[in-house]
Amino acid sequence: MYRVCLQTGDAGADATHVYRDPDLLGHVYAAPYPVADPTLTWVVTDDAGVVGYVVGTADSQAFARWQEASWWPPLRQRYPLREPDGRTRDHELLGTVHHGATYDPAVTDPYPAHLHIDLLPRAQGQGLGRTLIATLADALRERGVPGLHLGVAEQNTGAIAFYGRVGFTTVATHPWGRTLGMDLRDR
Ligand SMILES: CC(C)(COP(=O)(O)OP(=O)(O)OC[C@H]1O[C@@H](n2cnc3c(N)ncnc32)[C@H](O)[C@@H]1OP(=O)(O)O)[C@@H](O)C(=O)NCCC(=O)NCCS
Repeated sequence: MYRVCLQTGDAGADATHVYRDPDLLGHVYAAPYPVADPTLTWVVTDDAGVVGYVVGTADSQAFARWQEASWWPPLRQRYPLREPDGRTRDHELLGTVHHGATYDPAVTDPYPAHLHIDLLPRAQGQGLGRTLIATLADALRERGVPGLHLGVAEQNTGAIAFYGRVGFTTVATHPWGRTLGMDLRDR
């Protein structure tokens, strides 16, 4: 999952050369989810290994509290804050590691759950993304969760098109991209 996260982590493209430390992206965007709640992670595999995943949390505010208590402290010890080096973006992720992630209640009140989904190029375009989103959405509906959200970079036009096709709409725009939401009470 760390490898898939890195190889799709630059607005959908390979981020291997964007980060000096190959694990930082996975520490922030993939690994905490199956640790916090393994019942909301699904992975796709082929003969060569993991080729994609969807990870989610049912309650973003509770997830943030869990990260503060359990996930960030060892990473803060292991990875000191770093000044920008002009070549890599590690400092941005280290800022998240040290300052934590926050979730806007205006988004999480109607859409408490959030997700990350990534498939390697060889697994894309076969309906797997749609299946992963539907699987997560069904599991959240079973728990009575009313809504699901995610953040996407504006330059990731392929992912924005995908999310529109599978039922997400734009709920907020930001300098970096947009927040999309799905009302899980619709069906
Ligand atoms: C975005 C991503 C999850 C989509 O998964 P996928 O398995 O390739 O998508 P699917 O084959 O399930 O496609 C579902 C629908 O979305 C559409 N779609 C998927 N990718 C698209 C693209 N790049 N441009 C336009 N439409 C797209 C498909 O045409 C399909 O439409 P339809 O079923 O209504 O005809 C996958 O391509 C991916 O992981 N990309 C790299 C990482 C990434 O960008 N992750 C999101 C970060 S926010």
